[in-house]
Parts: sequence; structure tokens; C-alpha cells
Amino acid sequence: MVCGKGGTGKTIVSILLARVLSEKYRVYIVDSDESNILLPRLLGVKPPKPLIEYIGGKRDEAELESRELDIASMLSRAGLGIRLRALPDEYISYSRDGIGLTCIGKVREYGEGCACPFNILTRILLKNLVLDADERVVVDTDAGIEHIGRRVEEAVDGVIALIDPTAESIETASLLKDVSLSLGKKFWVIANKIDRKVRDILIDKARGMGLSIDGFISFDEKIIESCLLGEELRSSNALEDVRSIAYTLKIIE
Ligand SMILES: Nc1ncnc2c1ncn2[C@@H]1O[C@H](COP(=O)(O)OP(=O)(O)O)[C@@H](O)[C@H]1O
Ligand SMILES: [Mg+2]
Repeated sequence: MVCGKGGTGKTIVSILLARVLSEKYRVYIVDSDESNILLPRLLGVKPPKPLIEYIGGKRDEAELESRELDIASMLSRAGLGIRLRALPDEYISYSRDGIGLTCIGKVREYGEGCACPFNILTRILLKNLVLDADERVVVDTDAGIEHIGRRVEEAVDGVIALIDPTAESIETASLLKDVSLSLGKKFWVIANKIDRKVRDILIDKARGMGLSIDGFISFDEKIIESCLLGEELRSSNALEDVRSIAYTLKIIE
């Protein structure tokens, strides 16, 4: 699960990580950020229909919480848990490199309230997911820590807290560390958009807040360019960095 302050690069890193994982596994991205409009374009797929529609539209939180079993069985085909590749075609889009994208909810409409129902559905989906040995799931989350309140972290194996050269992102990472470790999850801090000048300052600043940085992803002009143009994600050194991080941290074994 890729978490962190808004703008640290969660969506970009989710895609890069999925690309690297797809060299070895069958990979899915679960888009849990209801305001993510760029992800399908960056992945080069048409936007899948949001899963919230599969279960009949946006419900209130109490109803979702109380109907977990029911919702899980709606999403699973033969009552054997949820398999992403068994979802109806319109709810999952595949990229050229075979990465499946599924999305939880659509852009919040004005006045519609908070993202809690989406986070609850994300948790129900992830908790009831059945994966084969060669399948991996990357969860791209919404900014900040709203998902913590809905206990999405409970349902994942590990949490990546992304930071960028901002003090606020380190604060968010520090909160994420406390929650992840208290749940017994694997936890890593990865710094994104790094050039040589800020690297040492960031290491010091993070250390001052009790965080050690587990990996660095370079600032990458090609990423900026493809985001700006809204095209399929291109990258140069950042992809290499993510590949080496994934092996070093044993996210790929
Ligand atoms: N390694 C990187 N190098 C340069 N720019 C980056 C990098 N990673 C992300 N970005 C830029 O940061 C912006 C925010 O990234 P995004 O993944 O949308 O953040 P988040 O999902 O955390 O809100 C993007 O528009 C992208 O251009
Ligand atoms: Mg995002």
C-alpha cells in the first residue's frame, strides 16, 4: 500500500512499482483515491467502472460497515473470496504490460461528503481478496491519513510511506509508521523526487523525526513531462531506482 502526503508521488510510484513487479508477477493496481483522474491515462488504459457501482452505488458508512460479508460475497464469484481477474470486464482494465487496474470510487461530487465509504470498500475488497502465489497487488491511496481511520492498513502486507523534500511529508510518514508498526505490518519510508542537493538535508530531517529512509527515487524530468501532457507514463532513472528498491527491500523475491 503506497501512502503519504498529497503530491509526494503515490500514483507515479504505484505505477513504477507495478511495472517492475509485472516483470515477475501478475500485477493489479487498486486505485483507492477517489480523486485520481490521471492514473488510467498514465497507465495507458481506459478508466474501469468504479467498484462502488458494482455493489449498487455509494452507501452510507454505517451500512457498508454492517454489510461487509454481504458485499464481499457480491464481489466474489463462487463464494471463494474475491479474485480480481474474475471481476466483470468493465471493472478491470489491463495495460499493455498486463497490469490490471481496478478503481474503488469515482471523483467526489461537490457536497457528497468524505471519502470514508470508499475507504471502507477498499478494506472490504482487500481483506477478502484471494491471490495466487504469482499475483501481487499495489494499492494507490488517497492523500494523507484518512484511510487510517477506516483501518485500510489492516488488510495489507506492507505500507510504503512516500516522502518528498517537504517537512509535511515527513510528518505524515511518521504517523503512518506508528500505525503500521502497531498493526504489525512491514513498513518502509521511500523518498521520491530526490536530487543530490536535497538528499542529505532530507536524511537529517527524517532522522530528527525518528525515521530512517529505506530508498531513494530520483527526480525524473520524463515523469514531469508525461504527467503534464497526460500521456502514458515515461520515466528514466526513477524506474531503475524503484527496481533496485523492490529487490533490496525484498518486495520482489
Ligand atoms: N520521481 C519524480 N520525479 C519528478 N516528478 C515526479 C516524480 N514523482 C512524481 N512526480 C510529479 O509529482 C506530481 C505528483 O505525483 P502523484 O503521483 O500524482 O502524487 P500523489 O499521488 O502522491 O498525489 C506528478 O505530477 C509528477 O509529475
Ligand atoms: Mg495520487
